[in-house]
Amino acid sequence: MTIQEFDSIVGSARDAFAKAGTPAELENAKAQFVGKSGRITELMKGLAALSVEEKKTRGAAINQAKQAIEAALAERRQALADAELEAQLKAEALDVSLPGRVREPGGLHPVSLTMERIELIFASMGFDVADGPEVESDWHSFTSLNNPPNHPARSMQDTFYVDLNGDDGIPYNLRPHTSPMQVRYAHQHIKRYAEAVKRGEPMPEIRVIAPGRTYRVDSDATHSPMFHQCEGLWLGENVSFKDLKVVFTDFCRTFFESDDLALRFRPSFFPFTEPSAEIDIQFQSGPLAGRWLEVAGSGQVHPTVVRNMGLDPEKHIGFAFGMGPDRLTMLRYGVNDLRLFFDGDIRFLRQFR
Ligand code: DAH
Repeated sequence: MTIQEFDSIVGSARDAFAKAGTPAELENAKAQFVGKSGRITELMKGLAALSVEEKKTRGAAINQAKQAIEAALAERRQALADAELEAQLKAEALDVSLPGRVREPGGLHPVSLTMERIELIFASMGFDVADGPEVESDWHSFTSLNNPPNHPARSMQDTFYVDLNGDDGIPYNLRPHTSPMQVRYAHQHIKRYAEAVKRGEPMPEIRVIAPGRTYRVDSDATHSPMFHQCEGLWLGENVSFKDLKVVFTDFCRTFFESDDLALRFRPSFFPFTEPSAEIDIQFQSGPLAGRWLEVAGSGQVHPTVVRNMGLDPEKHIGFAFGMGPDRLTMLRYGVNDLRLFFDGDIRFLRQFR
């Protein structure tokens, strides 16, 4: 065999390795040259029949060819592995230029902003702020407020009734207004009042607001089955309707940051007040100027309600009101559909941030 023939075996091994596109194809190609019956292996076997001198020179030449083939094989293996890694990196590439997910600063809901505002204004006038249950007993929602079972005044509110498991015999509802908080608050503080009287001090006044969620079977652009109310109550020795007018007028002017605001107390009916009035406001300028807008119900607290608080109606006289913070929010910001407050659309809500 000549040198050229050895070179041609090495050359065809290199060609075969280059053609192999995968590690498996490369191993097949390898078998043709240095495998059990590969061409180099066959040449080695042929050495046995030669003389010692011939073995030396031919053996050296075969070895040289074998080393060249193995070097070519190792080189191709590495190339295939590199290509595979390259492909994998490309397939799993991260686009680091994508904008990250940011957590935007949050903000209070517009109705929460109104609630905070109401609380601040009334707190500055010496009112306490109370919180109460949304699932309420029939007695607190109606009966205690001089609205007995089967009284036609109950149909003023389309109430959600609640069927509680393990019924204790007391009918419950989702409170249709915050007015039950009047009696609840008085009951919560009755011990303190009694102790003050025992010490010979004058009976403490009750001056409280109770903001919160309320529920009625009602739904359109200006009514939602869940809405908000804020109750107000001021009982003292002689708190009059005049005081109601002063307090509520002050509140409205502070809330809307305008003295250019008229109030109207329109005669009405509620079982828990006598006399009763609906409170309307009128802006003197701006887009709503000239229209009377109802914002609250109010009146002098009925003696029956005071008695149900455990107090003496001859000594505890005053007013109550219930207003709609949702309505106040709509008026303050010029929102025309109540449902926007409860849809949770971030494009709407972020305007109040
Ligand atoms: N609770 C009444 C309602 O939901 C509003 C109301 C009217 C509350 C007169 C009062 C009040 O405290 O005195 O329609």
